[in-house]
Amino acid sequence: MSAPGPAVALRPVDASELDAFVAIYVRYAAETLPYDPLGRAPASGVELRRVYADALDDEAAELLWIETGGERAGLLVLQRFDEADGGEAALEFAECYVEPEFRGAGVGRAAVEQVLARERARGTPVVDAAVLRDNPALGFWRALGFEVRAYRTARRP
Ligand SMILES: CC(C)(COP(=O)(O)OP(=O)(O)OC[C@H]1O[C@@H](n2cnc3c(N)ncnc32)[C@H](O)[C@@H]1OP(=O)(O)O)[C@@H](O)C(=O)NCCC(=O)NCCS
Repeated sequence: MSAPGPAVALRPVDASELDAFVAIYVRYAAETLPYDPLGRAPASGVELRRVYADALDDEAAELLWIETGGERAGLLVLQRFDEADGGEAALEFAECYVEPEFRGAGVGRAAVEQVLARERARGTPVVDAAVLRDNPALGFWRALGFEVRAYRTARRP
């Protein structure tokens, strides 16, 4: 039997914590944007604050802290789609970030597995995660049992 993972708690981000959320999100974006083959300018903190203030009011979106040992170790942004959005009802891991000093210890796995257990209980048929083409984090999703289901192509018009 494998060793138990770290104790991880998922806690909703409160509106009063939006600046802290954006500060971590900026590091996440800086790390992942280079994997976008089309390239794009990073969103400003002001823009991110507006987008995630709206997300806090959106019932289909969830902003969560990943905490371990009482510390903030990362964040998750989840987006729920229902049949009315076209296709199967699904929960998407829209964003997933573990701070570098907490990586490689099973924190990301524990966080994702908590969400998977919740969605199994809820009867959600599909859980998916979008990954930029060259992001090595694809290995993380594969390790958690996610299959590459489609390729999304894009170009500038
Ligand atoms: C991807 C990320 C969330 C992983 O978090 P983590 O806490 O280090 O992951 P874990 O320690 O729980 O690893 C779980 C499994 O994934 C594997 N894994 C983790 N990162 C990996 C990587 N970059 N490449 C290949 N496999 C990886 C681990 O080997 C482990 O496998 P195992 O459980 O079978 O031994 C973290 O590296 C991160 O935040 N990266 C930068 C942001 C990013 O790219 N996020 C994903 C956006 S799609």
